[in-house]
Amino acid sequence: MKLISANWKMNLTPSQSLAYLQKFLPLVEGIKDREILLCPPFTSLCVVKDALKGSSVKLGAQNCYYEAKGAYTGEVSLEMLKELEVSYVIVGHSERRWIFGESDELINKKVISCLKAGLRPVLCVGEKLEEREAGLTFKVVETQIRLALSGIEEYTDSLDIAYEPVWAIGTGTPATPEDAQLVHAFIKDLLNQINSKHQGKTRVLYGGSVNPKNAGEFMSMKDVDGLLVGGASLDPESFAQIVKSF
Ligand code: 13P
Repeated sequence: MKLISANWKMNLTPSQSLAYLQKFLPLVEGIKDREILLCPPFTSLCVVKDALKGSSVKLGAQNCYYEAKGAYTGEVSLEMLKELEVSYVIVGHSERRWIFGESDELINKKVISCLKAGLRPVLCVGEKLEEREAGLTFKVVETQIRLALSGIEEYTDSLDIAYEPVWAIGTGTPATPEDAQLVHAFIKDLLNQINSKHQGKTRVLYGGSVNPKNAGEFMSMKDVDGLLVGGASLDPESFAQIVKSF
């Protein structure tokens, strides 16, 4: 099933999140042929969980820590997320990599801990502008995926991957659907190389300046299995349009 996800990033307080859902849920009621995922900030997970009771919309977290518990000030464990009925965790978002300095090694540990906890990681990968200009897109994406899956190569079917070119995030300049298709097909080939028993259950999402106007074009590409939407997911009407765009 296609996966259309909202990454609210550091936006929407708990009361704003509730107001969002009051508008959003009626707009997507009854949609069963695609999975809808909301990833609010940690502080809104609890109210969003309650508001989603009886709805098929899923709840995701934007980050996690890999240790089970202990002296890790400011971090959030997978057990904490599970109790809030979180089923997906965004791991390795470019903002985590490039603003907060997350390494491939840390991202690998987070992916492993999500799998152990039974939560499905949405692993984010993507090249920076200078890497794209140097013709390194495929190499960067391959390295990020291989390192994130290091030691857990047999679990390729247990996660989803978001291809989010860094230069397209929040810039209003998305990749072309054709360019995204090339990278998505490459990612699917790579998963088959990494794991000879790969069954193709990994959805490859596109993220980066998706909006209600371009969403349908991305979704018409053969290997685009969903979207990860930032800015345009902050308005319930615009995100509902994206959900219904194909
Ligand atoms: P924008 O949709 O704002 O470009 O953000 C994309 C993104 O980073 C989703 O995780």
